[in-house]
Amino acid sequence: MLAEMGVGPVWTARHASAPGVDARVDQLAGGEVDSIAGPAHAAVATAEVAAGSVAGFAAEVATDYATVAVSRQASPAGLDWAALQQAVAGCTACGLCSTRKNTVFGVGDRKASWLFVGEGPGRQEDLQGEPFVGPAGQLLDNMLKALGLQRGGNAYIANIVKCRPAAADGRDRPPSEEEIAACLPFLERQVELLQPTVIVALGKVAAVSLLGLPADTPVGSLRGTLHSYRDRPLVVTYHPAYLLRQPADKAKAWRDLCMALTAHAAAG
Ligand code: URA
Repeated sequence: MLAEMGVGPVWTARHASAPGVDARVDQLAGGEVDSIAGPAHAAVATAEVAAGSVAGFAAEVATDYATVAVSRQASPAGLDWAALQQAVAGCTACGLCSTRKNTVFGVGDRKASWLFVGEGPGRQEDLQGEPFVGPAGQLLDNMLKALGLQRGGNAYIANIVKCRPAAADGRDRPPSEEEIAACLPFLERQVELLQPTVIVALGKVAAVSLLGLPADTPVGSLRGTLHSYRDRPLVVTYHPAYLLRQPADKAKAWRDLCMALTAHAAAG
């Protein structure tokens, strides 16, 4: 909300200024943070520095800088496609950055009127840096084909989180609420740039994250209703990985896609 209003991080003066602090601050920031305006910069000087106790001060400043860096990464308002992709590639807003091989930004036609949103990258997607490249991806490609679409052909595919959530045993796992909250601004900006006519949420995580619903909302209760995401029609259907396990539900998924087709025709 603050970023939308053009308001940056709020710095509060805690201590008096001390000479030589700026250089130390820049060193601590590791060049990752934009320079800060003079008066605000001076405000981080502490009595500890004056007393020669730099270590405690250094830790405080480093913490403040980390907070600023994260809040900037999580506020991609106004970025164009290239800058947004770069921001995702360098994101350290949650712990998933420490285990990822690649960020998985999204793929497809940046002028597409259809947006398909999954949960998050799995092992294959993490290795290749592209969403839905495993078996679930093949099924998604078939779902697109049934709609007369393809990757790069009036369809864009993205995920709620851009880095692979992996469990301690190395398996894929759903993203946590914190990971979703950290990453969602990137998808929100993708939606703003894409301006899709219709959004299809693939599975529960995509649906509840976009619709702001409790995490335990059953996906079955969201199907069959035309939802709205920022004034755009949103249709919920099963995740392709679920459909691989429960092929009998493919007929229901097709009904969902037909609803999406109708919504697309009505809005397009
Ligand atoms: N499942 C998802 O939700 N997204 C992917 O990119 C791959 C599998």
